[in-house]
Parts: sequence; C-alpha cells; structure tokens
Amino acid sequence: MTAALELVDVEVAYERRHQSPVRAVVGASISVERGRIVGLVGESGCGKSTLARAAVGLVRTTGGSVTFDGSPVTPLDRRARSRPLARLQMVFQDPQSSLNPRRKVGAQIADALSDLELVSKRDQQARVEELLRQVGLPASTAGRHPHQLSGGQRQRIAIARALAAEPSVIVLDEPLSALDASAQAQVANLLVTLCRTLDIGMLLISHDLALVNQIADEVAVMYLGLVVEQAPTRELWSSPRHPYTEALIGSIPRADGNKSTPVVLAGEVPNPAAPPPGCRFHTRCPHAFERCLVEAPPLVSIEPGRTQACWLQRVG
Ligand SMILES: Nc1ncnc2c1ncn2[C@@H]1O[C@H](COP(=O)(O)OP(=O)(O)O)[C@@H](O)[C@H]1O
Ligand SMILES: [Mg+2]
Repeated sequence: MTAALELVDVEVAYERRHQSPVRAVVGASISVERGRIVGLVGESGCGKSTLARAAVGLVRTTGGSVTFDGSPVTPLDRRARSRPLARLQMVFQDPQSSLNPRRKVGAQIADALSDLELVSKRDQQARVEELLRQVGLPASTAGRHPHQLSGGQRQRIAIARALAAEPSVIVLDEPLSALDASAQAQVANLLVTLCRTLDIGMLLISHDLALVNQIADEVAVMYLGLVVEQAPTRELWSSPRHPYTEALIGSIPRADGNKSTPVVLAGEVPNPAAPPPGCRFHTRCPHAFERCLVEAPPLVSIEPGRTQACWLQRVG
C-alpha cells in the first residue's frame, strides 16, 4: 500500500532573472501515512518550506513526483480546487496572516465548510462548534475576531479550519514557532491527539529538533535541499547515522546541562545557488574525506525504515 502523501525525488528550482536558479530542493523523498506524524527538520534556508509548498501544490516541482491518495498533485489542481485535493491541507507558521482580521473566526471556519459543501447550511453552526471543541476551544470563540485571541488560540483556529475539510493529511510549516513555550507544548499535544483520534497523517516541519523528537513518529533531516537521513524518531535520536543529524542533536542542550556530542556545526549553510561539489555537507563535516569532496553520496536504505546519505557507516 502506498502512503497517503508520497514525495519521490522531488526537486524545486526558483528561476531568477540574470542569475542561476536557486535549486532549493534537489532530491527529497518522504511518505506520510494516515495516523502518523513525520517530522521534517533542518536549518533555516535548507528548503523545508519549499518542500511543504511543493507537497500541497503551491509551488511547481521541477523534478520527481508528488502524489496524494494515488493522484498527482500539481499547482493546477490546487487552483481548480479539486475535491479530493481538499483532503490535503496546510497550516502555516503565522496564523495571524492566514486569517482574515475583519471576520469572526466562526464565520471563517464556516466558509471552509461552505466551499466544500461538506455539511448542510442547517448543520453548519453545530459543525463549527464541534471543530472548535476538537481543537480545545469553547464554542463561544466563534464570535471572536482573530485579534481578540492569543497566538495559541489563533493557531488552533487555523487547525480547525484545516480540519473542516476532513483532511487525511495536513502539512504544517513551523506551526509552533510563533508561539510561547506553554502554547507550544499545548498545541503540540493537540496535534498528537488529532493525528491519533482522527487518523490524520501530518508532515510537521520545524527547525526545532527537540520539539519534533517529542511528537513525531519518524523524522527526515534535510540539508541544503536534500534529505540526508530518515529514521523512526527514537532511533534517530539515540543513534544518528549522518554527521549532520549528529551535530543537530549535539547542539541541543540536555536537561542535565551536558551536550551529548561536541557541537560541530560551524559556519553558515552554503548558498543553495552555488552549493559545494560532492557531498553538500562536506564543508561543515568533521569527518569529511577525499571522496566526500568530489562525489555526492546517494540516499540509501541502511536498515528497515532507515535511510541515510553519507559515505561513512555504509555497513550496519
Ligand atoms: N520565491 C523564491 N525565489 C527564489 N528563492 C527562494 C524563494 N523562496 C525561497 N527561496 C530560497 O530557497 C531556499 C530554501 O528556502 P525555504 O524553502 O524557505 O527554506 P526553509 O523553510 O528551510 O528555511 C533559500 O535559499 C531561499 O532563499
Ligand atoms: Mg521555512
């Protein structure tokens, strides 16, 4: 059985006038099944948002394929708002910008219901209240405007609006980054509950590996447009196989104040318009050797459910 959302070798290049294109995503394969949370992590600029937009048909891919429930996702479908594609939803980082400031939030959720003709006009209000309850808000929230709500409440509204479409997969691009720590923890718990109770697959994009570690079932790590490692969360966290993953984990402060491995992530992410030859990570990798400078390691399966792209550790 194929996954609900399947990205295979996806590439996205942004054309620029008088300059070489920015190859923001050069090869990313990710599957998201219903009822599972797949984390996608990596530093700023590595192509996470571009991949998210490609996944829901908001940006045109220049290579590879994106399929949702077995049908190809293309920007054209999106514009035509095909009914099946409505079951693939997206939630953005900043709920403020994705909500209309002048309309009551209940009306905005109702709009999503009317667009899709999922419930009769008569049942609309009850459905709005049910959606609010599902995201942990009282029914009275429907009468509020976005500015009367906290950041966490606004993100819950954005999630309720996505749920209105009865999605099988939701792509969430940094959904917790704009929230304070306590709202972050609460909305993170909400996502897990929704994933399990409504059998929704989630592609959870975040630069915060510690947070992803808490709620994702599996994690894909991206570096400069490439997925470099993918594994079940616990395995990735306890035994990272790619030096970049190791460095990301090592840079996270532990509860005991010790860092597990020395921080090796020196320097900036290279410019994706002029990436280093060979392995894209070699300029920052403490283990790089000759082959890494000239030949890019392919993403290969190293054990069931785990892939990585590194010339080291090719056995085991
Ligand atoms: N519309 C665009 N045109 C040209 N370059 C872009 C565009 N959007 C993003 N980029 C570039 O693509 C790369 C990846 O960006 P992005 O997908 O936003 O990464 P992330 O979400 O991981 O921070 C960056 O170098 C960024 O500057
Ligand atoms: Mg981004």
